[in-house]
Amino acid sequence: MMNRIVLLFLCLPLLTCAQRVSLNLGTGWMFGKDAQDNAAIPSDDDLVWEEVTVPHTWNTDLIQNQINSEHYQGVGWYRRSLPVQPDMRGKRLFLRFEGALASADVFLNDKKVGRHEGGYTAFCFEVTDLINWNGENTLMVKVNNADNPNIVPDGSRLFTRFGGIYRPVALLVTDPTCITPLDYASPGVFIRQDSVSEKCAELTVTAKLSNALKTDAAMEVSVQVIDAVGKVVARAVDHVRVGAGETVPMVRNLTIESPILWGGRENPYLYTVDVEVRRGGIAVDKVTQPLGLRFFHVDASTGFFLNGKPYRMYGVSRHQDWEHEGSALTFKHHQHDVAEMMEIGATTVRLAHYPQAADMYNLCDTNGLIVWAEIPVVQGVNVKRYAGAFENAKQQLVEMIRQNYNNPSIFFWGLYNECWIDADKVQILHDLAKAEDPGRLTTAGSNQKLSEKHHITDVVCWNKYPRWYGGFDLEKWADDLHKTHPDLKVGISEYGAGGCIDQHQIPPKKPNPTKGRFFPEEYMNQIHEEVWPMLEEREFFWGTYLWNLFDFSWPGVTRGSRINLNNKGLITYDRQTRKDPFYYYKANWSDEPVLYITSRRFIERSNPQTPVKVYSNCGKIELTLNGKTYPAPKSSYGVTVWPNLTLVEGENRVEVKGIKDGQIVKDACVWILNTSASAVPGEKTQTVEERSVDVSAFTVSSEQKHKGHVAKNAFDNHSDTFWCAAQERVPQWIVMDLLQETDIGGISILWGRKGRYEYTVQVSQDGQNWKTVVTNSKKGQKKNHQFTALARFVRIHCTQTPPGSPVAIREINVLTR
Ligand code: GCU
Repeated sequence: MMNRIVLLFLCLPLLTCAQRVSLNLGTGWMFGKDAQDNAAIPSDDDLVWEEVTVPHTWNTDLIQNQINSEHYQGVGWYRRSLPVQPDMRGKRLFLRFEGALASADVFLNDKKVGRHEGGYTAFCFEVTDLINWNGENTLMVKVNNADNPNIVPDGSRLFTRFGGIYRPVALLVTDPTCITPLDYASPGVFIRQDSVSEKCAELTVTAKLSNALKTDAAMEVSVQVIDAVGKVVARAVDHVRVGAGETVPMVRNLTIESPILWGGRENPYLYTVDVEVRRGGIAVDKVTQPLGLRFFHVDASTGFFLNGKPYRMYGVSRHQDWEHEGSALTFKHHQHDVAEMMEIGATTVRLAHYPQAADMYNLCDTNGLIVWAEIPVVQGVNVKRYAGAFENAKQQLVEMIRQNYNNPSIFFWGLYNECWIDADKVQILHDLAKAEDPGRLTTAGSNQKLSEKHHITDVVCWNKYPRWYGGFDLEKWADDLHKTHPDLKVGISEYGAGGCIDQHQIPPKKPNPTKGRFFPEEYMNQIHEEVWPMLEEREFFWGTYLWNLFDFSWPGVTRGSRINLNNKGLITYDRQTRKDPFYYYKANWSDEPVLYITSRRFIERSNPQTPVKVYSNCGKIELTLNGKTYPAPKSSYGVTVWPNLTLVEGENRVEVKGIKDGQIVKDACVWILNTSASAVPGEKTQTVEERSVDVSAFTVSSEQKHKGHVAKNAFDNHSDTFWCAAQERVPQWIVMDLLQETDIGGISILWGRKGRYEYTVQVSQDGQNWKTVVTNSKKGQKKNHQFTALARFVRIHCTQTPPGSPVAIREINVLTR
């Protein structure tokens, strides 16, 4: 009874209003898993049904706790009754889904309505002719998130594909003549900015008009541009005749004199555009869209320009999922994430690696954040082998563009990320994007060597992880690239490092980024402190995007203190804790006062000697440790370090005070010293693998430079790359300089191939006098040798190799004790 009253109430507007009505179908759903996928349309007895609300996903916490990253990948059925009322007769009814992952088959009253493939874009079906006007209308949706190579992305490699109807669903009721919601589920209105300047903005507005009547319809279409205080600044009225059953575009040019520009964070000024359809003097439909007038370009030497002026692109990235919610989010989740972007001082965001919720793009519009939106053509997607995958990628690209065409915050359409896609296919995607939307720039995130495909998108970026996945020299790479290809518009689409708030180490050692279980927050700090200045100093980067603002679910990985998690976020997965680097960026990017003591979570300590490091943008800082005041040393990029302070046994109070724009700012924390503690708690989890020394200095007898088999490949944590001596001649050697005397516990070597290598491992204090600690002549590609030595230099000296092959080593790990 109660339900009926609610329904009646919801439908009241229909009785009085001729215009479209959108009913949110959030409640009243039943859901059941169908692991067998055998019942065509399951009945009550076929599945175990439970009541759910939409947005809904069937994987939330499940995945985070499974050692084998098990989560449900398969079919889930959704069922509910549609709130159809007699007064809807004569109208058109549509079902619009904002997102169901990865495929959705929709049935109404046991009849197939349609199928959609692609988990991140909206889709819409008309159901007018399938409505039962004399009784129940049962909607059934079969959603499937099993891996499917023809739906991109085909699996959960880089992030979790949670599954489910995880974005809102609406029943849309319109007049028989309307602006069509069926054009790739877009608003049916497209506002093209032909030319914009401070003097004048020229627009082309297209509205796709649909007539479901059995006769021609004469429609009067008015387009109004309204400013932020409600004043109409441009208006046009057209009369269009639409044939029975036809959909036709109405195209209208408009001019706005002296427009107020959408100016990024400083002034995200929005107009609205109302397109209203009248028939026989009665308003029958209206679509309202945002309009932000702006112009922009990228210069290969001087970067990004907004409205004619250089604009700093302080970039973060965002995956949509949240701990405990998975992908099933509401407005408040998006709002929270955007607030974090605003607080850190970001000016641009890469919404990776797929189209995100409409709420997200809208929030970026109103907050002035510049958006890079992209399709999920990611690592692992095989567009070469599966023709369906490429078709699906194209479809998702068109959907993404049409659905979000009018969001002024979007400036870039991303076509691929780390995908092995050929230049000809990139060209097809690029041409498609430009045909759909000539006003925006295409881009991509690559991790591959420069090739033809990188010259196709308007601008291009690389994912680089200096000092994380390898000891990569970012500066040299970037400067060489810019020098040899001065016309290439280059940016950095990803950089960063893993970090866990429950793991600490001072000074931090480089973790093994792919196998390590100990990712001290301090190492993450160090990477960001080292990398950001390199990026900031290179004006030619049009944009740089740190990876990632938030931790996110990543099935199958065991890295750091939690499984199935990508912990490169500056904010934890539950959004409860900001890791230290959040404040490093805030100090560099934001004007708000920042004064923040790092390593504040490293509370229990065993070493009395410690640096104190503060991130701040305050002019004058003062540190007090246990009541004694220390003046601030010189700071750089917002980092101030007091290098060697002494803690007392028990509680230590650290306080800092600073002044910014006349305002006093303070921060404080407590550390507890227990010198008799055997180890720092966080460090106890360290295994032998995590204890590898970060080897950044080495020399070799020879290397195959021309083929790229250089010595640094032996230290990049990638076993597919290797150091190879220039010739087959032996002996050959590699010497590693650990830069300081180190307590060595062993070495592991992954040789180039299977077979017998004869070699010795030697250590030295001075690089001159060597002591042999290992002599080996047994077969085996992977060798672990344990020995103890206090030394600065380690040498592998090889005297015999498998027949016909030169000395080659894929990976070397020198272990500390
Ligand atoms: C890649 C990839 C990301 C991934 C990241 C990482 O470069 O594009 O999706 O999360 O590396 O390893 O953290």
